[in-house]
Amino acid sequence: MSNAVYLLFGATGDLARRKLFPAFYALYREGKLSENFAVVGLARRARTNEQFRDDLLSSIREFARYDVSKDEQFNRFAEHFEYMSLDIHNVEGFRELKRLTDSLDEKFNVGGNRLFYLALAPELFGSVSYNIREGGLLEVDGWHRLVIEKPFGYDLPSAEKLNAELRQVFKEKDVYRIDHYLGKEMVQNIGVLRFANAFFEPLWNNKYIANIQITLSETVGVEDRGGYYDHSGALRDMAQNHMLQMLAIMAMESPSRLHPEDIRDEKVKVFRSLRGFQNAEEVRRHVVRGQYASGEAKGKPLAAYRSEPSVNPESTTETYFAAKVFVDNFRWAGVPFYIRTGKRLPVKTTEVVVEFKNVPNNVYLAQKHELEPNLLVFRINPMEGIYMKMNAKRPGSEGSVIPIAMDFCQSCQVGLNTPEAYERLLYDAARGDSTYFTRWDEVSLAWEFIDKIAEAWRESEGDLENYPAGSWGPDRAKALLAEDGFKWWPVN
Ligand code: BG6
Repeated sequence: MSNAVYLLFGATGDLARRKLFPAFYALYREGKLSENFAVVGLARRARTNEQFRDDLLSSIREFARYDVSKDEQFNRFAEHFEYMSLDIHNVEGFRELKRLTDSLDEKFNVGGNRLFYLALAPELFGSVSYNIREGGLLEVDGWHRLVIEKPFGYDLPSAEKLNAELRQVFKEKDVYRIDHYLGKEMVQNIGVLRFANAFFEPLWNNKYIANIQITLSETVGVEDRGGYYDHSGALRDMAQNHMLQMLAIMAMESPSRLHPEDIRDEKVKVFRSLRGFQNAEEVRRHVVRGQYASGEAKGKPLAAYRSEPSVNPESTTETYFAAKVFVDNFRWAGVPFYIRTGKRLPVKTTEVVVEFKNVPNNVYLAQKHELEPNLLVFRINPMEGIYMKMNAKRPGSEGSVIPIAMDFCQSCQVGLNTPEAYERLLYDAARGDSTYFTRWDEVSLAWEFIDKIAEAWRESEGDLENYPAGSWGPDRAKALLAEDGFKWWPVN
């Protein structure tokens, strides 16, 4: 990993505590961060270096996948962390930040590289970038990169505006837009499974695949994020980014080389081929939106979305989204991609199911054996693995057919301590590998697709359905598949 000074804006926030500090620590423990680095924590609130390092320690104790076993090792690590209170609207503070950064660069022999990580509300990205430049922080010899978190805009026009602001300061190649799903082990594995095996690719098209189902279900509600979520909803929070990215990885062609731009080019082609909804009627037919009402899980009562903290009691924000989507190209013509996501569903899971078409002639039908379709399932999270369902002879029977499963559970392997998504992404950004970050054209095409849904929803609020918290969402999500003769396959 490159030497760098990491400037962490939003260092007292939740993301830093839950994800970023533990990621730095794991990279350090794995020897991926050399001793030539420094991290400057930045936020408005006053904090001494000692307090900041205490925060670091408690975050690592709580969330890191490595124990803080040796104090000495942690102390050596923590020496690289400093804190500075900064008013991000005041350029003078950035000049002072430059002085601090330069002195840390010298102390740790970094060599000029700067990685700016904005764990901040996106409204602030523009002015922070501007002040980074005005404060002289880019006037160094090494590289400089900007890492930003979603939501990247609220719709296409706001995303364009945000992007234009960033681009006044940073080049596209230096902007690393995080979609943490792309950092997940099994999401990265989809490409390998598809393109490094002989037996999937020949079947990977509309001749053999009946449909693809992508489920991102969560058991949690909005928790303490009501203020953000009520303006976002499942469509912007999950579908515009994580879901469409996973769809693109499932649908893309093989890149000719494993270069970041080649891979991203292939994803862009998928985004371009998404069939956009033409009018409100199409959206009504192909898209389901729901909001959780009160309900229960494991015998415990769960509050309705509208009574969650910081949520408008009359909110029409969706906490559930499902859609039937088509990719209009040669490979996928006619194959529905069913995608769904929701909060307060019964299981926390991310899964992709590929349902194959039936064999052309079922010779077992004479013995009254309907054949179950073959399934290939990518288990992304929290269980990681691959599952294949096929038909076989019931042992000992006279040719009776039963479905059997081949189940590879990666996460069950003892001693496997796979890196967290943020760890991988931080590592990639510092190495200058943008493969698993989203490029502007991907983001803008995704917004274009999503905006049509949002626009139709604005016109007709009547189709928002309630579902009991702890259930699988509105019944209409089942009908979406049933009308095509399919069903959602149970998730694990
Ligand atoms: C985030 C969303 O991007 O992803 C959250 O903002 C959601 O609302 C989270 O809970 C889910 O991520 P994961 O990794 O827990 O599946």
